[in-house]
Amino acid sequence: MHLQSQDIPLVARLYKRSFQNHFLGHMGYKFLELFISEFVKSDANFGYAAKYKNEVIGFILATTSDNPFREFYRDNFMMLVYLTISRFLKDSFIRRHITKRLGHVHVALKALFSFSVKDNNSGEKREVCLSQQPRLLALAVDRSYRGLGIANELTAEFCKEMKELGFKKVGLSALPWNQRAISFYIKDGWKKEGASEASISFSRLL
Ligand SMILES: CC(C)(COP(=O)(O)OP(=O)(O)OC[C@H]1O[C@@H](n2cnc3c(N)ncnc32)[C@H](O)[C@@H]1OP(=O)(O)O)[C@@H](O)C(=O)NCCC(=O)NCCS
Repeated sequence: MHLQSQDIPLVARLYKRSFQNHFLGHMGYKFLELFISEFVKSDANFGYAAKYKNEVIGFILATTSDNPFREFYRDNFMMLVYLTISRFLKDSFIRRHITKRLGHVHVALKALFSFSVKDNNSGEKREVCLSQQPRLLALAVDRSYRGLGIANELTAEFCKEMKELGFKKVGLSALPWNQRAISFYIKDGWKKEGASEASISFSRLL
């Protein structure tokens, strides 16, 4: 089912548990809740949750936009600056990896500037753009529920909706050391498109 507002704190908790070796998994709950809310309120971003007894046991975060976080950066700019500094001071993982993320500062500043110009004209509404390729940005299943086909059900729901919207292909990238995720994607029908030291890209025809 689509992610709903009340799922946001539950998804944030599962995100933190599932992505302990990833940058965003170290950014804290406040950041994660702001980030995940982008997949509930935006027209171009999509979130799906698998639930069992009111608990979120799996989720997908995906986008149809080539710049999915413009509004996220613009609407939360000062809060993001504060949260990033605060995590930088508290978490050595963030300190070690922050230099790889400096490109986001540029994107955030650009978003801040371009939106402040557009906002004076009209309330721009994001819409699904069929020339973009939808991308799966994050997928996780609670450790206790892995190996049960839940990830497969989530990707099926995502692919079905993208196909209904008129898209022909979806993509994603995985970290090269994430063997379980890579095995899952291959088993789930995704085809390897390219690889670098930092990531392996996959696509799937709809
Ligand atoms: C990636 C993820 C969503 C897959 O869900 P899952 O329920 O584990 O998926 P499945 O068990 O259906 O498939 C995993 C496949 O990986 C392989 N696998 C299983 N256990 C494994 C392990 N310990 N190490 C490596 N590969 C493994 C098997 O090929 C398995 O397929 P099988 O069912 O034929 O045995 C889940 O492992 C997860 O949440 N991981 C943490 C978050 C993450 O890394 N997300 C992906 C990056 S965006």
